[in-house]
Amino acid sequence: MHQDALEAIKKIAAEPREPYRYLKVDRITPVIGAEISGVDLSQEIGSKQFEEICRAFLENHVLVFRGQDITKYQQKAFGRRFGTLRSLPLSDIDGDDPEIVLIRAGKKSTFVAGEVWHTDGTSDPAPSMGSMLYMHETPEIGCGGDTLFANMHLAYETLSPTMKEFLKGLTAIHDGAVPWKGFTPPEGLPKTEHPIVAKHPDTGRSMLFVNSGFTTHIPSLSEDESDAILNMLFNFIEREQALNCRIRWEPGTLVFWDNRCTQHRAVWDYYPYSRFGERVTVLGSKPEGALTLSASQKEDSAYSSPLPA
Ligand code: SIN
Repeated sequence: MHQDALEAIKKIAAEPREPYRYLKVDRITPVIGAEISGVDLSQEIGSKQFEEICRAFLENHVLVFRGQDITKYQQKAFGRRFGTLRSLPLSDIDGDDPEIVLIRAGKKSTFVAGEVWHTDGTSDPAPSMGSMLYMHETPEIGCGGDTLFANMHLAYETLSPTMKEFLKGLTAIHDGAVPWKGFTPPEGLPKTEHPIVAKHPDTGRSMLFVNSGFTTHIPSLSEDESDAILNMLFNFIEREQALNCRIRWEPGTLVFWDNRCTQHRAVWDYYPYSRFGERVTVLGSKPEGALTLSASQKEDSAYSSPLPA
């Protein structure tokens, strides 16, 4: 890694954080992920604790709540504290609840959802704000089925200054048909143009907003140029472990991730065993391109939660 990249990691890892009073936050790595304890998601969460959950979410991007015993109604109620839940036509999903996506794999599976690095649904004009996966069953053999998450603020910050400058102002196309490669896609899948370097809507921080699960090309470049740039970025995200945390699941674990500034990848290393979870998705907003923020603006916007208390 070049020196600028190491400096970026050091800076993000060392950002000052206020202590928490209403929950316990144990960071998983210095740059992404935190285990949250002292929260019971089966109960109505008070406003002070909720405020701290929001702050922990913006600081860590991926929150892990273990030992939860919740119904899908309680999971959805927690999701609704952050926004409107995405509802899909019943014809497009496995299951009978339009707000729940079943994440299921077993001995008959030939693939699993989310096996490549991706961000959920970026082909939507307004991609989701976050997703919450609640795990019911983990592989019977007692291991496998982890999920990897990567920090897209850090992915952007670790690029060289010249590459950052080049990417700012460019856009890329995200195509809902990409995950359907090899299958017959449903009609009317969205295709949307988003900035490559977007601004986090709550913190104002820049982040890389392309992913191999949906992004097809950069329309202002030739095909060869576009492939070279996107493959370089996808390879970087795939290869660079300093961006990542790895979450091990147990039945009763709920993970809530910020879909705007992370990518994730489900590790399918447990065939022929099974794994089953339910996911709800909170709707988000159209990503805006990152402006060149002054140092003082960056400081102002760092980690103060504007999410509703
Ligand atoms: C997904 O939302 O992509 C699935 C993640 C997982 O199964 O771990």
